[in-house]
Amino acid sequence: MLSYQHAYHAGGPADVHKHMVLAELIAALTVKSRPVSYAETHAGRGLYHLDGAESRKTGEADQGIRRLNPDPATPFGAAYRNIRGEYGPGAYPGSPLLASALLRPGDRSVLMELHPAEHAALVTAMAGRDVAIHRRDGYEGLLALAPMTPRRGLVLVDPSYEVKSEYAEAARFVRALAGKWPQVTVAVWYPLLPAARHTDLRAGFSPLSVTCDEVIFTPAPDRGMYGSGMALINVPFGFGRALKRIHLAAQTIFTPQRPGG
Ligand SMILES: C[S@@+](CC[C@H](N)C(=O)[O-])C[C@H]1O[C@@H](n2cnc3c(N)ncnc32)[C@H](O)[C@@H]1O
Repeated sequence: MLSYQHAYHAGGPADVHKHMVLAELIAALTVKSRPVSYAETHAGRGLYHLDGAESRKTGEADQGIRRLNPDPATPFGAAYRNIRGEYGPGAYPGSPLLASALLRPGDRSVLMELHPAEHAALVTAMAGRDVAIHRRDGYEGLLALAPMTPRRGLVLVDPSYEVKSEYAEAARFVRALAGKWPQVTVAVWYPLLPAARHTDLRAGFSPLSVTCDEVIFTPAPDRGMYGSGMALINVPFGFGRALKRIHLAAQTIFTPQRPGG
C-alpha cells in the first residue's frame, strides 16, 4: 500500500523534529575525519516546495518550519539555509537532501524508495550528488546491504505507518539490522497517536537499548496525531546534550500558534 504522500506533511512540526535530530546525528558522526555510511529505508522525494498545493492544503509547514526560524549555528539550521539558497525560499529539504548537505565527499550514501513517482522525483532531486538510489523495499534492501562499509554509520527508518503492522515490522527490522550491523546508529521516526501503537514499536526493540525523544503538542489536540517520536539506537557519545537542545527547540512549534499570536 503506497498511498501516503509526504508532500502534505513536509516542513510540519513532526517533520522538523525528525530532521533536527537527523542533522545533529550526522554532525556527531562526522566529527571524526573517517568516512561514514548513511542509508535511508524510506527516502521520500528529497525536495519539497512549501508553496505547492499539498503544503498549502494542510498548512503544516506554517506551524512547523515557518515558525521555527532555525538557528544557522546548528547543523539543521545551516543545512536548511544552504538548501534554500540553492533551491529558493519556498524549498524544504527531505531527509535525503538534508543528509547530503551535511555528509562529506568520501561518505557513502544509499537511499531506498518504493513508490514509482516518489522514486523518480528523488532521482531528479539528487541528480549530481554522490548517492546510490534504489527503487526497492527499504527493509529488504538494507538487510541485503548490511553491514555497510564503512561500518561507522547511520540508518534513518521513516515509514508512513499506513497499516497497523508497520510498527511491529519497523521494530523487527531494527533488531535484524542491529544483529547484522552491531555498530550502526539507527534513528526511527514514529507518530504519537491515540491508538498508542508506538508503545508496541518501543517494546519491539527489546533487547536493544533505545533512547527516545518525544515532543507533544501542547495543548493536546482533540483527535489525530498528538506528538512526534524519534527512537535512537547506538546513540553517539555525548549526544544527550544535543537531544535536549533539539527537544526544547521542537517544543516551540508543538505549541500551536493562536490567531494573532
Ligand atoms: C514518511 S515518507 C519519507 C519522508 C522522508 N524520509 C523525509 O523525511 O523527507 C515515507 C516514504 O516511504 C515510502 N515507502 C513506503 N513503503 C516503503 C517501503 N516498503 N520501502 C521503501 N519505501 C517505502 C513512501 O512512498 C514514502 O515516500
